[in-house]
Amino acid sequence: MNGKVDALLGIVFGDEGKGKVVDFFTPRYGVVARFAGGPNAGHTIIFDGHKFVLRSIPSGIFNENTLNIIGNGCVLAPDLFMDEALELENAGYTSIRERLHISRRAHLILPTHRLLDRAYEAMKGKDKVGTTGKGIGPTYSDKAARVGLRVGDILDGFEEKYARLKARHEQTLHDLGFTDYDLSSVEAHWLEGVEYMRRFQLTDAENEINTLLDEGKSVLAEGAQGSLLDIDHGTYPFVSSSSTTIGGVCTGLGIAPQRIGRVFGIFKAYSTRVGSGPFPVELFDATGDRIRELGHEYGAVTGRNRRCGWIDLVALRYAIMINGVTDLVMMKSDVLDGFDTIRICTAYQKDGMLTREMPYNTEGWAAVYDDVPGWKAPLSSIRDEKDFPPAFSSYISRLENELCVPIRIISVGPDRDETIIRSE
Ligand code: GDP
Ligand code: IMO
Ligand code: MG
Repeated sequence: MNGKVDALLGIVFGDEGKGKVVDFFTPRYGVVARFAGGPNAGHTIIFDGHKFVLRSIPSGIFNENTLNIIGNGCVLAPDLFMDEALELENAGYTSIRERLHISRRAHLILPTHRLLDRAYEAMKGKDKVGTTGKGIGPTYSDKAARVGLRVGDILDGFEEKYARLKARHEQTLHDLGFTDYDLSSVEAHWLEGVEYMRRFQLTDAENEINTLLDEGKSVLAEGAQGSLLDIDHGTYPFVSSSSTTIGGVCTGLGIAPQRIGRVFGIFKAYSTRVGSGPFPVELFDATGDRIRELGHEYGAVTGRNRRCGWIDLVALRYAIMINGVTDLVMMKSDVLDGFDTIRICTAYQKDGMLTREMPYNTEGWAAVYDDVPGWKAPLSSIRDEKDFPPAFSSYISRLENELCVPIRIISVGPDRDETIIRSE
């Protein structure tokens, strides 16, 4: 029987805990593949007292029996990739070159893409997106403009292709008046990264994945970012530049829709957002600060404060619809352990209008809440749903009733072990 591609997708604004859950799921899959994004992602994995933050490398890398693939929908910075891979090699994961394949069709992030990212953000001033500064937007723009460099190009006329694209970028930077930069040291490290990448298996990953599926292997597609940062379905223009939703799994890996099996939608028991853009549930008070402190809500990549708020059912319903989510995964439930009351955003309102559906532009919409009692008990030591405090079980039931999708997994702490699978 043919294998399936299950997807694990962040369904809010990213940082839902995708890395932890992909790592937890990995033993069940033959292949783990990233299909979108690049080093803007920061996926944290904690086990046996070790902590890793992966950016471009799939979170299945810690399992010796799993093949990891960076798919064609991704963008890759050779220097950052090298640093990340060397950190794993130095930590004892010496076989990663055999277990990590990179699609030749993935696009390369040049040092000048990162400069362009900075230049465009500076130009936008107060309207800036608040990007991670990793060159994501400019790289995907070049892909769409059909001038980008691909991973396969590092083995095929690389120097000339690189010089041409770099010159194009330098011209643009000059035209923008963005001239205060020194490329030399960054470029040397980047070129070292290109050399390093040549030692990896650069493959036609779409053929590889389809062959493995035909052989009955199952694939886990690891999402990056979240549905509300999707280039089409997110809070445009405050989004990332890739397809982070289910369609991105097909285009970003080269697999047909019939191959898709389960779609896991991952979210936190509350909401966060990094960078600019509308966020109706945002808390500007001591409660927001308390959630940030308790949840350690500081960016894994940039260290920036994450904006915090209550759970948002308008956003979740929308993302569940767009992605066809079959199973939900709720993270960081333990962070809300001490709250007397927990708020659930059920709708948005603006100028006397009320909506339960995601508006075209969420700017200016305010959250409408229902209050429920907190569970006031520590969840982190619990490993069986039978031991959940009643108010926590009620919170789960309430969400399931509102979202019409079962919550299959509950996470009660950052460690791999702090994970509870609920009975079907
Ligand atoms: P990702 O980008 O979706 O992989 O998520 P990040 O790694 O950026 O952010 C999730 C953060 O929450 C990381 O610091 C995790 O270690 C942590 N984390 C994950 N699950 C839980 C949980 O259930 N409880 C707590 N307290 N922390 C968690
Ligand atoms: P993971 O995979 C949270 C946000 C940035 C910014 C916007 C555009 O760890 O969940 P970009 O650099 O992509 O052009 O930035 O998207 N952003 C993320 N926020 N988690 C992420 O990834 C993100 N990747 C990008 O903060 O608002
Ligand atoms: Mg993250």
